[in-house]
Amino acid sequence: MPKVSVLFVCLGNICRSPTAHAVFQALVDRHGLSSDIYVDGAGTGDWHLGHAPDSRSCAEAAKRGYDMSLLRSRLVTVEDFYQFDYVIAMDKSNLSNLQAICPVDFSGQLRLLMDFSTDPLFSSISEVPDPYYGGHDGFPLVLDMIEDAATSFLRYVMASEPMSLIQEQ
Ligand code: 4NP
Repeated sequence: MPKVSVLFVCLGNICRSPTAHAVFQALVDRHGLSSDIYVDGAGTGDWHLGHAPDSRSCAEAAKRGYDMSLLRSRLVTVEDFYQFDYVIAMDKSNLSNLQAICPVDFSGQLRLLMDFSTDPLFSSISEVPDPYYGGHDGFPLVLDMIEDAATSFLRYVMASEPMSLIQEQ
């Protein structure tokens, strides 16, 4: 039974949140925490329900060794706030959509992913940009930002959670 659960949320759940899911899962696995931290992704929009991630995101992720091919888009629900300890939004629009459905008794954390970024390159950037309607060059940038912020976010989770989570590494 995982001790901590993390849900990454974007708009379509086919570009940014599956990328964050795959990158964070790889970090969790690398730290030997896969039985302690459960990772998932969801979207606030329903256009791509059940679809695999965008082929451009998959191709960029595959270049860096991440396999997103088995992930499928799903809609975020109010129930997610009772299932997940951390609900992590990619941009401010996702965040405000989530705040609108967040139960008053949500006991976890609802945050922007880039809040955790530590790379000075991204110090003035608070959102992971939506690459869907942009050119191919948006996808490597999204991955750079997510790799940086996900690494710092895992450090944050490990520092915030009970000692048992950290000691089991
Ligand atoms: P994502 O990107 O939120 O990073 O998955 C998008 C994917 C699809 C759409 C918008 C954003 N769409 O409008 O279909």
